[in-house]
Amino acid sequence: MSVNKEIKRITTETLRKMKFDGERISMLTAYDFTMATLADKAGLDTILVGDSAANVMSGYETTLPITLDQMIYHAQCVVRGAKRALVVVDLPFGTYQSDPKKALDSAVRVMKETGAHALKLEGGKEIEESIRNIVNAGIPVMGHLGLTPQSINQFGSYKVRAKDDAEAQKLMDDAKLLEELGCFSFVMEKIPAELAAKVTASVSIPTIGIGAGNGCDGQVLVIHDMLGLNNDFKPKFVRRYLNLEDEIVGAVEQYVADVKSSDFPNSNEQY
Ligand code: KIV
Repeated sequence: MSVNKEIKRITTETLRKMKFDGERISMLTAYDFTMATLADKAGLDTILVGDSAANVMSGYETTLPITLDQMIYHAQCVVRGAKRALVVVDLPFGTYQSDPKKALDSAVRVMKETGAHALKLEGGKEIEESIRNIVNAGIPVMGHLGLTPQSINQFGSYKVRAKDDAEAQKLMDDAKLLEELGCFSFVMEKIPAELAAKVTASVSIPTIGIGAGNGCDGQVLVIHDMLGLNNDFKPKFVRRYLNLEDEIVGAVEQYVADVKSSDFPNSNEQY
């Protein structure tokens, strides 16, 4: 299916219509102006300013350390580059779980200071009141179920979630709850494809999968992964469209050699 670049701005309503029409939703992360501009130019529907910025931009092992101020900085950069895509921002760990009032304060700060269009929060029943508070303030919320990286210390590993009946049932209940709370969509990360397809068929809001198979209404990947910027990270669910690590290392090696040999700059590259 071709991309309709005539749409002025993708909204949560556009995504709902896409699900209804059977048009798949494309989503990638971005954390800076340049990447957001390029992704937007390519016709990407939704940009996620993910807290995976903690990993790929800051080099932390988990997403836990990133702060609200840092997420706001990344979101401001992305919003300046995204002319058509809907921009969704992750609320970082510790800014919404403890109390619904704090959750709303964090949400309002992101919306006021960045110009983003929606927020993403990890979890279901446990954060019900926080989601309710944010949605009641008129802020669109995307949920996130399955492997929720902010809970990695509780999970103990990045293995596939909801493989047993109890966890699968909780995920289905949480999905229904997110829909009832007024979330406009939710991500399902690293869960069995069959379960993700069943959940997708059971809700009226669009589901976005990452490592959750082809039965979701849309797909999201971390842009650094699909561009091949890190050869050491190759999970099964990532499709690589480029091998930028080798390209960039090769280009920098060539630049170093050209400077060392006095080949760069040549007479056309000076004033
Ligand atoms: O932070 C992130 O990049 C995410 C996606 C993996 C869904 O939450």
